[in-house]
Amino acid sequence: MIKKKGQIVRLDTPNTTLVIDASAGEYLYYGKRLTSGGGFEALSGSPRKIFSQYGFADYTESSVLMENADGGISTAFTFSKSKILTEKPEIAGLPSSYGEGKTLELKYVDAPTKVALYLYYTVFEDSDVIAVSSKLVNGAKKELYIRRLASVQLDLLGEYSFVTFEGAWARERQKVSRAIGRGVFYNDSKKGVSSHERNPFVIAEGKEGVYGVNLVYTGNHKEIFECCENGRARLIAGINDFMFRWKLLPGEEFAAPEAVMCYAPCEDGLSLQMHRFVREHIVRGKWKKRERPILVNNWEGTYFDFNEEKLLNIARAAKETGVELFVLDDGWFGNRCDDHRALGDWFDNTEKTGGGLKSLADKIRALGLDFGIWVEPEMISEDSDLFRSHPNFAMRVPGREPTRMRQQLCLNLADEKVQNYIVRVISDVIARSGASYVKWDYNRTLTDCYGKNIPQGEYFHRYILGYYRVLSKITKKFPFVLFEGCSGGGGRFDLGNFCYYPQFWTSDDTDARERLRIQDGTSYGYPQTVMGAHVSACPNHQTENSNPLETRFNIACGGVLGYELDMGKLTEEEKKVITAQVAFYKEHRKVLQFGDYYRLGGVFEGEVGGFMTVSPDKNSAIAVAAVTNRVVNGPLPFIRFKGLNPSAVYEVTTRPQANYGGQLSFTAGGDMLMNGGILLRDIFSDTQAKENSGCIFTRMFVIKKCKA
Ligand code: DGJ
Repeated sequence: MIKKKGQIVRLDTPNTTLVIDASAGEYLYYGKRLTSGGGFEALSGSPRKIFSQYGFADYTESSVLMENADGGISTAFTFSKSKILTEKPEIAGLPSSYGEGKTLELKYVDAPTKVALYLYYTVFEDSDVIAVSSKLVNGAKKELYIRRLASVQLDLLGEYSFVTFEGAWARERQKVSRAIGRGVFYNDSKKGVSSHERNPFVIAEGKEGVYGVNLVYTGNHKEIFECCENGRARLIAGINDFMFRWKLLPGEEFAAPEAVMCYAPCEDGLSLQMHRFVREHIVRGKWKKRERPILVNNWEGTYFDFNEEKLLNIARAAKETGVELFVLDDGWFGNRCDDHRALGDWFDNTEKTGGGLKSLADKIRALGLDFGIWVEPEMISEDSDLFRSHPNFAMRVPGREPTRMRQQLCLNLADEKVQNYIVRVISDVIARSGASYVKWDYNRTLTDCYGKNIPQGEYFHRYILGYYRVLSKITKKFPFVLFEGCSGGGGRFDLGNFCYYPQFWTSDDTDARERLRIQDGTSYGYPQTVMGAHVSACPNHQTENSNPLETRFNIACGGVLGYELDMGKLTEEEKKVITAQVAFYKEHRKVLQFGDYYRLGGVFEGEVGGFMTVSPDKNSAIAVAAVTNRVVNGPLPFIRFKGLNPSAVYEVTTRPQANYGGQLSFTAGGDMLMNGGILLRDIFSDTQAKENSGCIFTRMFVIKKCKA
């Protein structure tokens, strides 16, 4: 709900209130829902601005920086008008959240240049989230250059820690909390993508609660956190101003990507809000609410070394276990016998696929499995027909050696010709294979950014606009196809992408212990519905650790389940175990994929941890308890559940695991399970403990409300 009294605007969601003084451009309040009305004037005059600019003896970080045609960079945007829109405006060329949501539009004008700054605040009541965006409109008679236009500025008063989700390839999104004290810290990506290293989701954590901010953007981003001497903590998020300089001609406008912000008293609450928001207002299309299929992917099972027979063996074994979708990964096209060649040659390699893609896909479908296909459309190998015929499609600076990563170059997606080429060839791959699932990979980052007639300062953003144009055309053409994003694992795990891909490959690291840490960090800002999670072979190909098959499954249940190993080589015993796992997952898929997700504790601080998902009516839940440090003769580990109905009585049973002979079954009250918890008496007594060099012990619990 949005209410205006003069220029004091109040935006309410069921659990939060945001109050803005539009004429002063100030935040008056953002936090826990206020039930009383008025009195906000008492808070005015604080230094909490909704945007900031250079030129008022304000030397803190600005959210808007532009350079006029005369070279001057001072601006004086002052209030012009405010409006409440009944429909949320779209952001041209960029993905954004959708759904009913009243929107506050604020306009500020820099009188000397007549440049207008617009800010938009949309209220999503069902998730307690506010979406924010901004745009500049050049009303001047001359061009101007935008040097920074943040999507959001959130000024807070008090002491805050800055929480980020950092990592690297195979180690994505690990939570880091920093008390800044005084000074400036920023979290950013200059790689052209949201990156493995620093996710755009950030949290400001203070005494009165937590504020989350995320960007609906896949490109270079920057989140600045500045703690000032006057007690103000400023958080600015948007496109990274690194190498950014955007020319705006008279009459033109430039829209910053959308940001989302929300407040909650604690991190669990913040995650639930973000999860609901992503599920309801970011993910779209036929797969939004549909249960996701259990897949088998051949990548770690075969890498590039496969033929039709090997693939069909995997598919046959997968079908026997109840798996629903077969995904053919890298290596099926052109002369792709390794990663040195053929990217761009999206025609069938009949030696490796038998009679070609369609024939293989038909054979897989005849076995009773759906067929999915891997592509990496934004890339080109120098050893490819595409490069030989269109060397100018590759991104490179003329006269210089390009930087190669994984022996490949990027295509110049800032060029419309290249975009159209990708739409055509990838549409053809999907159409001729009849794929119902596409894994869209991206295995390097941008360097050598260059496009004829594209100013350097605009390149990164123009690449992303091109990428979104391509994605939007292809996903619209194939509305029934389930698209899963991938970027060397989780290198582009962001809300911009989730507007197109209902799920994303979370990480190339599927070691159960490492995966728990990655999924745990990811879950702060993103729901389990978008996290691809696979059971792979052991020893694990990344860490060389081993974990029991049941442990790998328990952890993979924290996301959308898949198997990624040569199922054709499974022993009968392993097949039996996987068949039981798949049946269990199908039975509980709805609550596992779409239930409310809770992290269960500081498993990496030596405590018991794990996760649980609870149905919205709180009648059923699945919990996974995990211990990662085994202390000899140490205290008995115990775990407290979350999210249950405190006054209901539940039946709790352990999922039968092949590596655990015992079986726990008891009834207990919801408040008892959440406050008292349960002891994990024999969590270390796995019969396959010798397989457990990865040191993680898990149990899965099925929790069902007893009939009254
Ligand atoms: C990186 C992905 O993360 C893997 O799953 C696999 O698809 C490879 N690329 C294929 O090259």
